[in-house]
Amino acid sequence: MSTFSQDPRFQGIKPFESKVWLSSPTMHGDEQHWVDEAIQTNWVSTIGANINEVEKQIAARIGVKYVVALSCGTAALHLATKLAGEKLYGQARVNEGTLQGHRVFCSDMTFGATINPVAYEDGDAVFIDTEPDTWNMSPEALEKAFELYPEVRLIVVAHLYGTPGKMEEIRRIADAHGALIVEDAAESLGAKYKLNGEWVETGTLGDYNCISFNGNKVITGSAGGMFLTDSEEDARKIRKWSTQSREAAPWYQHEEIGYNYRMSNIIAGVIRGQLPYMDEHIAQKKAIYERYKAGLADLPVKMNPFDAEKSQPNFWLSCMIIDEDAMCGQIRDNLKATYTHTPGKSCPTEILEAIAAFNAEGRPIWKPMHMQPIYRDHDFITINGKMHPGCFDVGADIFRRGLCLPSDNKMTPEQQDKIIDIIHRCFR
Ligand SMILES: Cc1ncc(COP(=O)(O)O)c(C=O)c1O
Repeated sequence: MSTFSQDPRFQGIKPFESKVWLSSPTMHGDEQHWVDEAIQTNWVSTIGANINEVEKQIAARIGVKYVVALSCGTAALHLATKLAGEKLYGQARVNEGTLQGHRVFCSDMTFGATINPVAYEDGDAVFIDTEPDTWNMSPEALEKAFELYPEVRLIVVAHLYGTPGKMEEIRRIADAHGALIVEDAAESLGAKYKLNGEWVETGTLGDYNCISFNGNKVITGSAGGMFLTDSEEDARKIRKWSTQSREAAPWYQHEEIGYNYRMSNIIAGVIRGQLPYMDEHIAQKKAIYERYKAGLADLPVKMNPFDAEKSQPNFWLSCMIIDEDAMCGQIRDNLKATYTHTPGKSCPTEILEAIAAFNAEGRPIWKPMHMQPIYRDHDFITINGKMHPGCFDVGADIFRRGLCLPSDNKMTPEQQDKIIDIIHRCFR
């Protein structure tokens, strides 16, 4: 707080009494009812009415035939990626992943949970650069990647911050190369996309689809995730794998490796209580996005973009990106960041520090996977082919100039106006 409290630009601003969060859980009371019922009826493990009900409700809402409730989105992504690998390359030896020896094209600007399952399955993630229109996988860069590696048969794609990516183009490219798609709709639950002229929900756009009920998502179970599919066989397989791969025998009999990934009926009770409020939360998130857009319109910044003709985001996180010529000096190494304040300019580091100083939570843009030390040896493909010196890197540019704004659906208009005011003062 010290530097900002003494900075004349911020005179008269008081910190928020209670923290304004990036995106926190919003309970309504119904959750307690379903959790209590699970406890009173003693259905507290991985079988029960709450699980059946949330699977049914999500299937109806998203428009898929089968849903498998799992412990988290990461578990859903792991099993989806494994299943894709098994479909493509056959059942792996027990001590090997299904993607061993195979490259997989992956979204680059996403949370690590999207693409880590490729490594869990011994695959080799190749990162595909981002396009500036939706901040998702660039179909153009994906085409380039297939020119370099025509043998690839799997694409893992996420919808960043609740904004659907260019799935029509990505599907066309995948089909042309006989590739399967794992769709990570963890951040985009409830977002819609116009596919071949028809509005469909994200979570239906891949061959294997995943959602999350992590505490920061539009609705939460405190944890939880789901695998979504129209294939009864795939649903059965994922359900079996998630419950330790038990065969139909009187004793523990195993023909496949197993996982303990099934959702608990307690978690499902929280989700059951949240489901009626999903549209309300999305409407609140949308109002927050629009208030930022109007409130920041006079600054040299833009909101995270989407294509209004082709998509209806769920507006999970509102983000902004600073125009290049309004960026002050900013240096980030692997663990720290500094900046030099320049009148009329600012940068994500300054704005995030200012917001934090007044007790609100923003966050840097998810650091692209190709910039992560753990994946430094992996290929990164841009619209100009394999990354080379002088080649423009869209993901790194958005990471450098962008940031996630406090987007909690419980934030009041007055609190949001104060955040907008703080951002203005950063540019003074
Ligand atoms: C894009 C994305 N994929 C996957 C996950 C992982 O989901 P979970 O936390 O439910 O495991 C998250 C966040 O939590 C996410 O943001």
